[in-house]
Amino acid sequence: MLINLKGKDIICTQELSVPEIRALLQLADQMKKNRYNPQFSSLLKDRTFLMFFYNPSLRTRISFEAAATELGGHAQFLEPKTMRLKKTRGGIEVQAGETIEDAAKVLDRYACGMGIRILETSVDNYGDGNALLREYARWMEAPIINMADDKYHPCQGLSDIMGMQQHKGKLRGRTLLMTWAHGALARSYCSVHENLLISSRLGMNIRLAYPRGYDLPPEEIAKVRKNCSENGSSFDIIHDPDEAYSSDVDFVYSRNWFGPDFYQIGKDKEIARAVAMTDWICTEERMKRTCNGLFLHPMPLDRGKEVTDEVASGTRSIIIDIAENRLHTQKAIMAMTMAGLPVKLETTEG
Ligand code: CP
Repeated sequence: MLINLKGKDIICTQELSVPEIRALLQLADQMKKNRYNPQFSSLLKDRTFLMFFYNPSLRTRISFEAAATELGGHAQFLEPKTMRLKKTRGGIEVQAGETIEDAAKVLDRYACGMGIRILETSVDNYGDGNALLREYARWMEAPIINMADDKYHPCQGLSDIMGMQQHKGKLRGRTLLMTWAHGALARSYCSVHENLLISSRLGMNIRLAYPRGYDLPPEEIAKVRKNCSENGSSFDIIHDPDEAYSSDVDFVYSRNWFGPDFYQIGKDKEIARAVAMTDWICTEERMKRTCNGLFLHPMPLDRGKEVTDEVASGTRSIIIDIAENRLHTQKAIMAMTMAGLPVKLETTEG
C-alpha cells in the first residue's frame, strides 16, 4: 500500500488512518537508521518551515530546527510579539491588528509548512488553542503541524510509540498504565491525550489511574474507549496510586495534569492541591511489580514528584530515546506532508 500525505495538516493522530500512522513510523525508523543519507538530505532544499511559538519549548523547537536542517531546508522562529495579530477575548477585540486569514494567506506564500505551539496558559478557554491551529489550517495550503496545543501533541504521540516499539517490539496486546502524578507544574492534557489516543488506536490495553476529581475531558475518554473496543483491547480506570501497578503492565507513563476546573481556579490553586497528593508518584518499588515495565514521559520531568530519580535515571527509563525520536518522527512528517515523499507500507502490524 502506497501512503501519500502531501499537503495534509497534522493536528492529532486520531485524524490519521492507522496505515498513515504506520507509514510515518516506518519512515521515521528508516530516517533514524540512515540519518544523514543523501536520499533524505535535500528533500526540503531551499524551503522554509515556520515555527510559531506562543509558549516555550526545549525539545520541540530544537528538534524541528534540526529536522529542517537535516532535510536540507531552514526553520524560522516566530512569536506573537514579532507579529501584529488581532486579539479578541469573549468576542471583543482587545488588540487591533491583522486577522488570521490575512496573516495565514501571506505566510503561505513564503513557507512549505508551519508548526504552531499554543498551550493552555495562552488561551482563555479549553480548546481555544486547538481552534487557532484549525483557523490557520483553514487559510493555508501548506501543512499546519501541531507542535502541542491545549488538546493534542501528535509529534509526541508518534515518538512515544516509536520508543515503545524500539524497546518491546509489537505493541498490540501490551498494557500501558497512564497514571496521574503530583507535581508543581500544573500540566496540560496534550501529551496525555495524544498518547492515550494513539496507543489505544494501535491495539494496546489502557489503564488510566488518577485521584477522584482529575477526570480528563469526557469526549477524549470516549474516543479512547471506542479505540479499545474496536481493537478488542481493555480500558479501565482506577482511583488508587498503588493498585494500578500490576504484573500485566508493560509501560508506565506517570505525569501530572490539571483538574477540569483549572481554567476557573488558575495555576496557583491547582498546584497547591496537586502537590499535597504525594502518594501519586512512580517509584522503583512500584515499577518492580510490573511486567519489566518501562517508564515513559514526554519531558520536561518534574523529578521527585512525577517520578523518583531512581526510576527516571535508571535502566527502565526510555525518556531520552523518546526525546530523540521527536527528531525522526518530525523529519518523517515534514518529508511526507511538505516534500510529498510517498511511503510504501511494509507491514500493517507493529
Ligand atoms: N515534550 C515536549 O514537547 O517538550 P518541550 O516542551 O520542551 O518542547
